[in-house]
Amino acid sequence: FNVPIAENEPVLSYAPGTPERDELKAQLKAFKETEVDIPMYIGGEEVRTGNKVSMHPPHDIKHCLGYYHQGDETHVYKAIDAALEAKPAWENLSWEHRASIFLKAAELVAGPYRQKLNAATMLGQSKNAFQAEIDAACEFADFLRFNVQYMTEIYADQPESAPGMWNRVEYRPLEGFIFALTPFNFTSIAGNLPSAPALMGNTVVWKPSKTAVYSAKVLMDIFKEAGVPDGVINLVYASGPVTAKVIFEHPDFAGIHFTGSTGVFQGMWKTIGENIQKYKTYPRIVGETGGKDYIFAHKSCDALAVATAIVRGGFEYQGQKCSAASRIYLPESRWEEIKGYVGAQLAEMKMGDPEDFSNFVNAVIDESSFNKLSGAIDAAKASDEAEVIFGGNYDKSKGYFIEPTIVLTTNPKYDTMEEELFGPVVTIYVYKDAEFEATMDVLDTTSMYALTGAIFSQDRYVAEMMTKRLTHTAGNFYINDKPTGAVVGQQPFGGSRGSGTNDKAGSAINLMRWVSPRTIKETF
Ligand code: SER
Repeated sequence: FNVPIAENEPVLSYAPGTPERDELKAQLKAFKETEVDIPMYIGGEEVRTGNKVSMHPPHDIKHCLGYYHQGDETHVYKAIDAALEAKPAWENLSWEHRASIFLKAAELVAGPYRQKLNAATMLGQSKNAFQAEIDAACEFADFLRFNVQYMTEIYADQPESAPGMWNRVEYRPLEGFIFALTPFNFTSIAGNLPSAPALMGNTVVWKPSKTAVYSAKVLMDIFKEAGVPDGVINLVYASGPVTAKVIFEHPDFAGIHFTGSTGVFQGMWKTIGENIQKYKTYPRIVGETGGKDYIFAHKSCDALAVATAIVRGGFEYQGQKCSAASRIYLPESRWEEIKGYVGAQLAEMKMGDPEDFSNFVNAVIDESSFNKLSGAIDAAKASDEAEVIFGGNYDKSKGYFIEPTIVLTTNPKYDTMEEELFGPVVTIYVYKDAEFEATMDVLDTTSMYALTGAIFSQDRYVAEMMTKRLTHTAGNFYINDKPTGAVVGQQPFGGSRGSGTNDKAGSAINLMRWVSPRTIKETF
């Protein structure tokens, strides 16, 4: 198989004076000055219902970015029909042509669409320029390029044959359509969930998060310009329950590719189970769900490295990464030192509008997230098991701003050590050095999740012991590094337990879920 060798897209700096900074600023201005009107895309048609929903930057809620057209169940049925109609031609197109379309999409992401995708992500999802760049531009281009390489590795995996016969495996796409249900927090994931199954020859009904429709529209423009044929990826916005009812009762439903909350995923799995006899084939259920990601430091740790991991891992993109560090276990003998470094780094960190490139922290995604986080901060302030030691302020007069907040608790099972908050509130428990091993047991049993985790130890024997002891606590495990920022092609991403099916995004494992292999034996 001759395909271009996948390489990670270089991250641009956006430093003052760079051309990319000027281009991005111009794009932000253009998007702010024009109200966009976003249709649904069904079978290549732009569908406008007139039922318009307005979109506002989470950091500037009085500003209207434009509108998208909300659909209903008829549009979900139409999207399914369009996907099924497009399927025969698409699955019979040679893999080289499918690959070329998505490789071209990667070039569009890295080139002419880079600042459009970044600007839509910054405005619609309140992400700073650097966080948008590593997500929307680089990670999405990486997903597209590496998936093409993994596809060829799957196709190359063929069985042995004996004289007089020929055995082969045909990696057919699934029979039916795939449903992609995508999150707000990563534009790259929103792009990968429909495009990975499509690359393997499937057709897709895609429902984006209602808080990330702007960047979904730009992704759709990229797919179209790259040459994805009409009906292969269909973008619809209907309410969750309406969409779910139509999709999960359809006999041609063949799989779901999901990133989002554990509760939604479990609810859908249950519905799929209840409808199982309606389907032609057992649907593939692939989901990345919640996290309560940890940092656990041993007394031999490098204190500055731990502090940096807490601040970067906890507060990048306002803690709204599924990988974000949110429960922290620190040894008493190193606590004051680590706390000093954390305080110094937080004092440097600015919060505000992402359009001002100096702000590290921007707004959280919506009002319900704001209410949940401010409620947790108030509860910590009132609790006799917890205190707010950094931050603790919040304000929604201009946008949904929550100050990066650190809660210190005396109870390793305090609410915010267990519950996923999905925002910039980090909880720290300081353990007695002598209780190091017991604290590892507490860590293992405190949370239902197992997405990411980071350990810090300069003592190699201890690092190995922690790595073994914490085997099932994280699908992405970091030694002496923060638990966020997995790079496609380098750290395949996904978790187990309540965090998902662990079909590693950006890997052959994931792409294998979108094929139904046929083994052929021919005798001569
Ligand atoms: N891949 C992202 C990270 O590792 C999360 O989805 O931070």
